[in-house]
Amino acid sequence: MRSSEMYGKLSASGADDTTLSPPVAASERSAPKATARASALAITIALEHFTAIMADVALSDDRILADADPRFAAVWRWHAIEETEHKAVAYDVYREVTGDGWGAYLRRVRIMLLITIGFWIDVVRYHLRLVHADGALGDVPGWWRLFRFHWVNPGGMRRVWRLWLEYFRPGFHPWQRDNRRYVEAWKAAYAARGAAPA
Ligand SMILES: [Fe+2]
Repeated sequence: MRSSEMYGKLSASGADDTTLSPPVAASERSAPKATARASALAITIALEHFTAIMADVALSDDRILADADPRFAAVWRWHAIEETEHKAVAYDVYREVTGDGWGAYLRRVRIMLLITIGFWIDVVRYHLRLVHADGALGDVPGWWRLFRFHWVNPGGMRRVWRLWLEYFRPGFHPWQRDNRRYVEAWKAAYAARGAAPA
């Protein structure tokens, strides 16, 4: 299915972005009340690591978005560039607030584990909702294609988990993985065409 049709199904099912986004938004909103400021920042940097990972995967392998509607592929690449450019901003604020000690490390990895569980519960829930809207919950070949896409070819999830693990290294910093070349390459591609590349 083309991504434009998928987005149409999404809104037709009532699952628009306002119904899909509340869990993360709510956790970010309630965090300052429920936890210390450092923990609220730790939630932000954990989520930023996820967006940085997805951006890296999307920009580093053209096959990920090869079958997407060119307009949506352009939006996703633009978003991936933007997420890459600011991937260390909140992290640097966290270090400024908490320092580099073991307390700061243990807080960020503990919160990353909690965020990871919540993140994947949300991803699976949203995905099931989209597939349900498409009437394809029983489409076994479709599930197999999904599995192959994520884990075999192009297999972006294999890279996702490797990048996720980097976060647990003491002394980790987002720019230790310097992927500015992807940002520069896509910006050059946009500039050369005077429009978003397909
Ligand atoms: Fe971000």
